[in-house]
Amino acid sequence: MDYKKFIEEQIAHIKETVGREKVINALSGGVDSSAVTVLGHRALGEQLRTVFIDNALMRKGEPQRVVKLFASLGIDVELVDAREEFLSALAGLTDPEEKRQAITDTFYSKVFGRLVRQYGAKFLLHGTILTDIEETVAGIKRQHNILAQLGIDPQAAYGYSVIEPLKTLRKDDVREVTKVLGLPAEISQRIPFPGPALATRIVGEVTLDRLETVSAATAIVEEELADSGAFQYLAVLLTDRATGIRNNKRQFGQIIVVRCIESTDARTATVTPLPWDKLNGICGRITQIKGVNRCLYDLTPKPPATIEYI
Ligand code: XMP
Repeated sequence: MDYKKFIEEQIAHIKETVGREKVINALSGGVDSSAVTVLGHRALGEQLRTVFIDNALMRKGEPQRVVKLFASLGIDVELVDAREEFLSALAGLTDPEEKRQAITDTFYSKVFGRLVRQYGAKFLLHGTILTDIEETVAGIKRQHNILAQLGIDPQAAYGYSVIEPLKTLRKDDVREVTKVLGLPAEISQRIPFPGPALATRIVGEVTLDRLETVSAATAIVEEELADSGAFQYLAVLLTDRATGIRNNKRQFGQIIVVRCIESTDARTATVTPLPWDKLNGICGRITQIKGVNRCLYDLTPKPPATIEYI
């Protein structure tokens, strides 16, 4: 694939579609939304406003880190604090698809709807990729960023049109585009991180406490596996509990699952055969997290499992 040509075509397409209207996009710091942000700014400059929506579900320090990184690339990103809105929309929900739906509604309808009205934007620039569309259409799971392909007319539902410059690409192609766009390896080589963020790694209700537990486990897994070369690695908090021993007393503690996989496009995945010492080290650190007394390594490929847990 000729990535330079792809970039030129998309820039021309964005300019032509948008005309003189205002455009908005949400950056999460992942590969897809980062690529779209740079493409959009190349095409539109000041006509594009980029926001980072802090949904309370990101990794620790992530919003500030991403805003700073893009500032160093000359792109202004506005940090929008929507933590309360997301947490209250998720309160009491345990069903995976209901949780995804709540995140989708809060994102597109409430938070984005408000930003679009405030800014007077007519278009939303979006980092949807081919795998998102395929899996949603196949009914495997509703990726939070899919609208038109599910028969939702964003113009009628939310009052703006959606432009999806990456919708014909898979993850490996997006990484190449990101490199050609001149983004640092820190972004082009980033492991995938889902839009609904840590909510996809909490089975059961998403609460501040449970977010804290999974985010502590995520930090450990990401640090320990940073040089593993794996496609994606993550930590998941289950609702099940298990008996253990803490300070010589019985503890009915929480369970964290570690997942580390090899893949090229996330459609299928195999499990990384991590060295025993590495797994033991991770287990030792994860069971130091408050309330956690078990750590499991998930041996399931995709299919039959998916990569995330909800
Ligand atoms: P699954 O769990 O479907 O994940 O095997 C496939 C890849 O997609 C990521 N993922 C998402 N990305 N919005 C996203 O932007 C989502 O709703 C979403 N769900 C899963 C996941 O991390 C994996 O890389």
